[in-house]
Amino acid sequence: MNAINVELLQQHSPWHEKIHFFESIDSTNTHALQLGEDEAAEGTVVIAEEQKKGRGQFQRPWFSPAGTGIWMSLLLRPTIVPEIIPALSHFAVVAIYDAILKMGMELNDLKIKEPNDLLIGKKKVAGVLVETRIGSSSFAVVGIGLNVLQQETDFPPELREKVTSLAVASGTKNINRQKIVSALLQKLHERYQQVLHDPVKLDLAWRSKL
Ligand code: BTN
Repeated sequence: MNAINVELLQQHSPWHEKIHFFESIDSTNTHALQLGEDEAAEGTVVIAEEQKKGRGQFQRPWFSPAGTGIWMSLLLRPTIVPEIIPALSHFAVVAIYDAILKMGMELNDLKIKEPNDLLIGKKKVAGVLVETRIGSSSFAVVGIGLNVLQQETDFPPELREKVTSLAVASGTKNINRQKIVSALLQKLHERYQQVLHDPVKLDLAWRSKL
């Protein structure tokens, strides 16, 4: 069964805040930014099966078809000072890396491309988009896009040379997205503790995966 079971995720989420789940949405980051403005708590998560207007870095669209990837945003409320900004994206890409390893997948050449892309060989499998708001209620939204089940022909032709999915890279279609999201929530929580309390350790982990 491929669909994400949000009740199960919620029960085991280390973040202990609401997971907002959508079959289809414009962008989980846009929704999480609104939740941030509406005073939602740190650890609030937004997940969608499909994004109609997924956003990448540099205003690029992020291809987010239904039921194939992990499209998710996490709301955080650290003290937002300039020094924390790199760590806010580094911790997320390290957590994605950790979660993939935890799945025990056979992947050659999984590595981080500075600052926060995850590549398999030369092709991008995941990206992170961090957006911050500073004001009376400051917060950050960490958006994660991870290609999981797409086959090569599912990607638009112009992307095929540049992107891949866990399914293509591992040569198996039998990948459980539920388990990956669950591992990802866990690893994001662990690595976020390092952002707050042990940034040197996080930096070392990030560098070791470049
Ligand atoms: C990149 O360009 O590398 C960053 C991609 C980030 C995509 C994710 S998918 C979930 C979240 N919602 C968005 O609209 N974007 C991020």
